[in-house]
Amino acid sequence: MKPRVVVTRRIPDDGIALLRSYFDVDENRDDRPYTPDELAARAAEADALVALLTDRVDEALLARSPKLKIVANVAVGYDNIDLAAAARHGVAVTNTPGVLTDATADFAFTLLLATARRVAEADRYVRAGRFKGWLMMGFLGGDLNGATLGIAGFGRIGQAVARRGRGFGMQIVYQDEQPAPEALEAELGARRVDKDTLLEHSDYVSLHVPLLPTTRQYIGELELRKMKRTAYLVNTSRGPVVDEAALAKALRAGEIAGAGLDVFEREPEVHPELLTLENVVLAPHIASATVGTRTKMALIAAENAIAAVSGKTPPNLVRA
Ligand code: GLV
Repeated sequence: MKPRVVVTRRIPDDGIALLRSYFDVDENRDDRPYTPDELAARAAEADALVALLTDRVDEALLARSPKLKIVANVAVGYDNIDLAAAARHGVAVTNTPGVLTDATADFAFTLLLATARRVAEADRYVRAGRFKGWLMMGFLGGDLNGATLGIAGFGRIGQAVARRGRGFGMQIVYQDEQPAPEALEAELGARRVDKDTLLEHSDYVSLHVPLLPTTRQYIGELELRKMKRTAYLVNTSRGPVVDEAALAKALRAGEIAGAGLDVFEREPEVHPELLTLENVVLAPHIASATVGTRTKMALIAAENAIAAVSGKTPPNLVRA
């Protein structure tokens, strides 16, 4: 009998095909997240779980999944998983780093440009039939060339955003607990600064930190006040890294010029005030959503699941 894997949402077919070569696959074709009870009922018989970031993998679930050897998260972030509980239950946890770096950095830049150049607002204006003629003084936005791009979190994705920023003629500063290697700093023209310097000097702030107790509300009222009134904030990391109510207030008051958000504090809820503001571009957590990237993510998760259940160390093990 083949081992059993539960796939909690729809994932690309290539991933399912690879899983089928090794497992009996219990696939959620509905693409609606399972409730905790539904997930626990499925996982009770599973050797592996291919999970999405909409699944909460906690002590309660793990305690009801005695055969489980691995939770293969189809995401680079894994804040939906209680790593300590997984370790207690001897369950491996893996993620899908690397393959989504470029797609995510591209999308951070998409939001940066869309926000600076007011694309969503301009689109709404045209659709509403309000475009009556060219305006010298309409839709003025921010320049990129010569501007300072502040990157919070200088891992793979932050560095890829820096590369794009260089291409647009931007000056790069970053904040990270770890300094990047000197050669990389030189290549990217990137300078490590403290958080206050980053906030005070950047024309664009892009967030690329993982969600940890120390990065929750990394951007709150105080931080927003430190930013330039002409600055833009971009978040493609995790929603709770930003205090959404404080951001909405700052955007309304013109304390910063604009924001581009792919992630939200209580997804899929969006702070209602953000929905009323013109100077924010909103996206439904799609930074890694390209056909190629999502396919690679599914394949990597499948490889991790197969490795763990066949007694090997999965390639993308994450540790508490
Ligand atoms: C998406 O948000 C991811 O962590 O991959």
